[in-house]
Amino acid sequence: MSNKKHILIVGAGSGIGMTVSETIKDRYHLSLTTRDVSKLNSLNLTDAEFFTADVLKNEDIESLAKNCKDIDGLLYCPGIAPVIPAHHIKEKSLREVMSVNFEGAVLLIGALLKSKKINKGASLLFISSQAVRHPFFGSSVYSASKAAIEAYALSLSKELQSKKIRVNCLAPAYVESPMLDEARMHLSDSFIENMKKMHPDAFAESENIASIIKFLLSGESKSINGQVLQAGSFNINIPSL
Ligand SMILES: NC(=O)c1ccc[n+]([C@@H]2O[C@H](COP(=O)([O-])OP(=O)(O)OC[C@H]3O[C@@H](n4cnc5c(N)ncnc54)[C@H](OP(=O)(O)O)[C@@H]3O)[C@@H](O)[C@H]2O)c1
Repeated sequence: MSNKKHILIVGAGSGIGMTVSETIKDRYHLSLTTRDVSKLNSLNLTDAEFFTADVLKNEDIESLAKNCKDIDGLLYCPGIAPVIPAHHIKEKSLREVMSVNFEGAVLLIGALLKSKKINKGASLLFISSQAVRHPFFGSSVYSASKAAIEAYALSLSKELQSKKIRVNCLAPAYVESPMLDEARMHLSDSFIENMKKMHPDAFAESENIASIIKFLLSGESKSINGQVLQAGSFNINIPSL
């Protein structure tokens, strides 16, 4: 392993996690996780380790914490965003969304802390969503899971302050990624176009989000701690088109 700082990216197999891996691969030694490591081949990495991890499986989380090297930064990307109106919420989907979006992060951080794998000066970053403050129809479980990760991160930042470990959340609006492609399958093109016209600052490319994440993982952001940073915004009180 090189002398470079070590960043663990959980959920690097697509979307934001993959773009961040591509963006920071020359600067850091990377440990990347996904449920299917063949997805990482396209990254052409020379200074990286790959782990198979399904955050729904506690044994995968324990094994990741045991086998990864000490970290200087962590990005937790796993997220699922099913659209479920309140009267259709079933226990299975409720548990799955909370596990992937929130509990997996909590269990992983617990296991890393227990095995003293988080270095002094490290930056821990969780991806939340604007859906906490701007929920959409059927987002109650998703929005609640992201509100939970925000509350967890803010509390964790207080606990780890004395160890000089920073904890933040980034809450994007819409990001071009497979998650948004999936949402498009349920929405008409005209709906998306109208959304873009009404809220031009709400849509970002994953590269834009990756540069913010690169900054937040680096020492250049060392005075940012215990924050939920908003990326992208929604216009309010404007008439529909
Ligand atoms: N796209 C948006 O508009 C948007 C807006 C706000 C916030 N976000 C958040 O950004 C994060 C990344 O999403 P994305 O936009 O990049 O979408 P994406 O391409 O669909 O990525 C979802 C990620 O979740 C991981 N994942 C899902 N279930 C998992 C499980 N059981 N175990 C481990 N990993 C699992 C996937 O990992 P694999 O490699 O294993 O498939 C993948 O890396 C999510 O937390 C999402 O909620 C997205």
